Amino acid sequence: MSVTAGSTPNSAWIKYWGNRNDALRLPMADSFSMTLDSPTVEITLDHADVLSVRSFNPDGSEKELGAVHIQRFGKTLELVKQYLRTLGVEDALPASALITVRSQIPPAVGLASSSAVFSCLARAIQGLILPAIELTDEQTSVLARLGSGSAARSIFGGFSALLAGESDAIGSAYGRQYADEHHWALYNVILVPSMHEKKVGSTEGHPTAHTSPHYAARVQAIRTRRQRECIDAVLTKDFEKLQHVVEEDCIDMHHVMRTSTPPLDYLTEDTHRITRDITELRRSEHLPVFYTMDAGPTVQLLCTEEARDRVLAFARAQEGCALFEAKTGPGACLIP
Ligand code: PMV
Repeated sequence: MSVTAGSTPNSAWIKYWGNRNDALRLPMADSFSMTLDSPTVEITLDHADVLSVRSFNPDGSEKELGAVHIQRFGKTLELVKQYLRTLGVEDALPASALITVRSQIPPAVGLASSSAVFSCLARAIQGLILPAIELTDEQTSVLARLGSGSAARSIFGGFSALLAGESDAIGSAYGRQYADEHHWALYNVILVPSMHEKKVGSTEGHPTAHTSPHYAARVQAIRTRRQRECIDAVLTKDFEKLQHVVEEDCIDMHHVMRTSTPPLDYLTEDTHRITRDITELRRSEHLPVFYTMDAGPTVQLLCTEEARDRVLAFARAQEGCALFEAKTGPGACLIP
């Protein structure tokens, strides 16, 4: 029997950066995001004795997967088994699996494709082991987190957090939904200045966070204030408050990245120009729009319906940039 699931990336507003336990992907601080409705990833999971991963591009051609990618899936399945053991169902998963990934996400779009892939894999695993155990969404988000921390948030639709927790227990950090996708329709206009593969992926980046002299203050700010402010802004649909806290957290994360050893500077001249220009446009036209960037030069412009056409026109005028659009989405689901 095979199981197929679908999922999407999310737009991180309070960013996950740095772990208290890198091997188990246990974060230092909470994070928060909006799940997007596109681009989608579909994963079909089949029983198999040895691990095999096949991946297909948006145009249907098969993607040559490097050893590192295949190892990441193998490692994730091992960790999933370790977690299932703590739930008393270690035999629920087959010895290994045939994983078929069909992705609509353009390569290196700068949207965390790993958040879509590993939330999708987690949802598929949840479906596959259903006869043995009915995992809750929070438990399923732990499975997702074991592949990619941000993926824990894409299990849910709408607006959700990855709660860091405190202990070293494998299940101590998990996702939680604060409002579903019907709560607030927000649009994400995504501008990709460069389609080059990024040099340092987030898995390699997280362990460097602790080397920045600004990291402790970042963790403290999220724990004491920012996460709460972001959740409140979303629940009360206070766009201006959301804009302030999201941009503050984004600038802060990139400051930590740049001051780490080795320094990670993901932002380019194009990124800085776009964020400068959108800030000016917001001021002069009173537009409800804010920006955020993850581990790459891609700029996400989040806006309400009323600002959407203006933001799209701004985005279309950016020469040499690829453009994608998404909105609030429903999260990972099983496909019958
Ligand atoms: O889930 P990871 O390990 O790919 O880390 C994601 C890191 C950021 O995209 C920079 C922030 C986030 O919260 O998504």
